[in-house]
Amino acid sequence: MSLSILFALLFAVSPVVVSQHASVPSSTVASTSQTSSGASSFTTSVELSVEDLWDLYVGPVSTFSINTTVEPTPIPSSSLVPPPALYYPPFPKGQQVPLQPKNESWKFPKGFWYGVAGAAYQIEGAVKAEGRGPSIWDVLTHRVVNYVSTNDTGDIADNNYYQYKEDIARIAALGLKTYSFSLSWSRILPFGSGSINEQALLHYDDVIDTCLQYGIIPQVTLFHWDLPLFLQNTYNGWLSDKIISDFTDYARIVFNRWHSKVHYWFTVNEPIVFCGFYPLPANYFKNTTIPPKQQPYVCGHNVLLSHASAYHLAKSINSSLSVSFKTNGGFKIPRTDSQADAEAVQRAWDFNEGWFANPTFINGDYPTHLKDYVSGFLPAFTDKQKAQINGTCDIFAHDAYTSDFIMAPDAGIDACIANTTNPLYPGCYNTTKVYANGYWTIGAAGDPGTPWLNQATDWVPSFLHYMQDTWKPRGGIAITEFGISEPYEELRTNLASILIDPIRSNYYKSYLEAILIAIGEGVNVVGTLAWSIYDNLEWSQGYSVKFGIQYVNLTTQERYFKASAFEYANMFNVYLEK
Ligand code: BGC
Repeated sequence: MSLSILFALLFAVSPVVVSQHASVPSSTVASTSQTSSGASSFTTSVELSVEDLWDLYVGPVSTFSINTTVEPTPIPSSSLVPPPALYYPPFPKGQQVPLQPKNESWKFPKGFWYGVAGAAYQIEGAVKAEGRGPSIWDVLTHRVVNYVSTNDTGDIADNNYYQYKEDIARIAALGLKTYSFSLSWSRILPFGSGSINEQALLHYDDVIDTCLQYGIIPQVTLFHWDLPLFLQNTYNGWLSDKIISDFTDYARIVFNRWHSKVHYWFTVNEPIVFCGFYPLPANYFKNTTIPPKQQPYVCGHNVLLSHASAYHLAKSINSSLSVSFKTNGGFKIPRTDSQADAEAVQRAWDFNEGWFANPTFINGDYPTHLKDYVSGFLPAFTDKQKAQINGTCDIFAHDAYTSDFIMAPDAGIDACIANTTNPLYPGCYNTTKVYANGYWTIGAAGDPGTPWLNQATDWVPSFLHYMQDTWKPRGGIAITEFGISEPYEELRTNLASILIDPIRSNYYKSYLEAILIAIGEGVNVVGTLAWSIYDNLEWSQGYSVKFGIQYVNLTTQERYFKASAFEYANMFNVYLEK
């Protein structure tokens, strides 16, 4: 049934109001005695329960047989033996793989934190359990045809909502020290604002306490893309400045509750990416008149103001907290030494990292090339806003998977800027993974489902220097997500072949060596988080693309360490300063 028919039905009957409900606001209430020139001016106000939201916008969801919190099952010691390449087994004799030599001049400083990351919608499952309200991703996965290439949903995902104790025990068993996860906003506030769902708070209480019990540092992200549906459908979510106060209210709840247990906080994950989800697919969410190409930047504006507001709030609650956002990107390498490619590189920085990092680390305002574009439709930040935004990241938390060669568009930069229909507009720079000789790529490719991702670890030291020199983060740089999709892993049917993931193992080893080089050269890198704790819902690629350092059998929900988990953990055994 289409949503328009559902709405017609809904308006024809009296709404059923149950315990948790919200009223859909409207500027105009339709009345039969009024005349109106267009259908868009007919609006109404209707009360919906959380259950109604699910029924109307999402429909039935799947559940898993393990549907109460389970105690961790003991981790078999055999699963904690590293793969042979990492050591000499006592039996059988004769293995030829030599021990890796250690570079005695490299070290991760004391206090360096290292662990794994995951995100609520990608791993939790239990989407309707214990009062959770729907997020836009429940609609995108259930309703929007072909939005997820495999038609997968996050309904069950890794069942982390019930199996988190085992998940945390397994991180600890590997010897990792940090677990970064995100909160589901619509679990805590099923409508995004208003009534608080105490069951969700109790759940996250226990996730955090379990981390502490295992000696794992919990790091919490407030928003990893799963916007409460109700906020999208009442005022267009991040496209409205109304989100600033709702995000701040949400932040107040979580900072107040956990500030004494959680030191590291991330307000939002990768605004470049989630603002790029706008425009959302037509006909499933509230309409907007904001032109499509402007929408990501309107979103970004409200993200910066929301983040800054949450940052100051956190500091007023507990001034010792570390609060930042996580942004994303890679090193931007000029494809040739031409002036045009150099200009394209600067545009690429301005339209990516600079979009969020310049306002927070430099001056409270957008970088030049971006400002040239957005000043056409966004209000300039006032001096007060600039002061409020500047300085609001304690560390540069970067999700830095790969890098790209950058070049000017074929038509030239100026022609692109003058032509709003150019597909590269407004950035007006182009990217490639292929060296200028047209033959070699920057490094080994990930899975075909992630064409944006090749190993590019050779460029990591330069990238880290660039970040430190450009944005001068006072608390250093953390690589808060990095990883690679092992090519064609989803086609492997036999467990033993799934668990050996050579491309990913090599990626982590090379990447961490590159960080060690940069640290030796004076770059202040403070931590790393592998993406991901285990295979999970890779957004629009569903479960077809694998990023985990653990394999999850989605039929049984059993977890297994892959070789890369040991390769990653081993680097800290070898190089962490004791
Ligand atoms: C996101 C993750 C995602 C990963 C791999 C990151 O940009 O934060 O949610 O799964 O990339 O695509």
